[in-house]
Amino acid sequence: MAGWPTAGLPLLAQTTLPMEIKRLVEKDPKLRKDDLIVITGAGGFIAGNLARYFSRKGFTRIRAVDKKPLYEWYLRTPGVECLCLDVSIEANCRRVCEGAVEVYNLAADMGGMGFIERFRVECLRSILINTHMVEAAYRAGARRYFYSSSACAYNTLLQQDPHVRALKESDAYPAMSERGYGWEKLISEMFCQEYWAERGMKTAIARFHNVYGPNGTWDGGREKAPAAICRKTIEAIDKNDLRIEIWGDGTATRSFMYIDDCVKGIDMIMHSDALIATPINLGSSELISINDLVSKVEQIAGVKLKRSHDLNAPRGVAGRNSDNTFIKKMLKWEPDTKLDVGLAATYKWIEQQYYTRKKGKRVGIG
Ligand SMILES: NC(=O)c1ccc[n+]([C@@H]2O[C@H](COP(=O)([O-])OP(=O)(O)OC[C@H]3O[C@@H](n4cnc5c(N)ncnc54)[C@H](O)[C@@H]3O)[C@@H](O)[C@H]2O)c1
Repeated sequence: MAGWPTAGLPLLAQTTLPMEIKRLVEKDPKLRKDDLIVITGAGGFIAGNLARYFSRKGFTRIRAVDKKPLYEWYLRTPGVECLCLDVSIEANCRRVCEGAVEVYNLAADMGGMGFIERFRVECLRSILINTHMVEAAYRAGARRYFYSSSACAYNTLLQQDPHVRALKESDAYPAMSERGYGWEKLISEMFCQEYWAERGMKTAIARFHNVYGPNGTWDGGREKAPAAICRKTIEAIDKNDLRIEIWGDGTATRSFMYIDDCVKGIDMIMHSDALIATPINLGSSELISINDLVSKVEQIAGVKLKRSHDLNAPRGVAGRNSDNTFIKKMLKWEPDTKLDVGLAATYKWIEQQYYTRKKGKRVGIG
């Protein structure tokens, strides 16, 4: 049992871990602008935005990878090398990691509750991605490896009330993660912890809480609540039928992190020596119910919708929020874009996408 019950605890608690998984942290050489950065899942929402973020920071060698055909990628940043490869296959991971100085693994088969409750096997099979990517990064001699975990890794028994206590990092253990998707995240976190403990590769693990914003999935079944509610509102206005169907009774609560905060947080967590192999929340602590989220979107759109509730639809845990005590302590920062601000930008982007598609043009939807 030595070691595991305390894995995921803040650093202070980890001082009790056995000797063999304590390591001296050697200082990295300064990351050069032409060092190779590899980002997987880059045809998707967060990783696509991350590639653009590093490009804007002046990095000139970014390799973006996704299994989706290029025309389905949300964002393609000029100057970024784009590879269309499946990274659940080991040989592809080796090819992808060749020459990498830093690797950001964000590829996963995932979606909102509608997807992760129905396709647990698909979610579990993402274990192949991280298993091969972390090994390939290690063999390639990468200096640092980032893994995108999720709040779904937390013990679901702590999330049965909409008025939840926010989740802190130690709440992942004793483990009772979300079936399928959550367990895959938890096991992949362990891989990252052991690649540091046993092999000395610096790994970073962020537990994202719902991320939203422009350039993400907004239709097709994998979209999450903010995007789905924006799309349904836009559709209702377009069809002049001002009704909306809400999944569940609308009392469930969540927090939502704006994409700009997410990419900034990834950068900070990845480059913090104090956070090596230490899972940390990356999420907003602004808790809101789904009913109130609909009200915010109504306000942005300038309409009032007649609501109905589908009580048989997937809805996930009753409540989930991010306890940001640890991130504030470690990084003197937390995701702080107000939901009103981020939601307005997201609504505008989805509206553009919706009408572009209506004109018969191709848009990425997931
Ligand atoms: N969006 C959120 O709210 C959220 C919350 C918690 C965790 N996460 C995690 O963050 C990461 C990115 O999420 P996202 O919202 O950008 O999702 P996304 O679905 O928009 O992007 C994931 C991308 O990974 C790609 N992919 C899947 N399997 C692949 C494979 N075998 N080879 C290559 N590419 C593959 C998909 O094609 C997709 O483009 C994921 O690991 C996800 O689990 C996201």
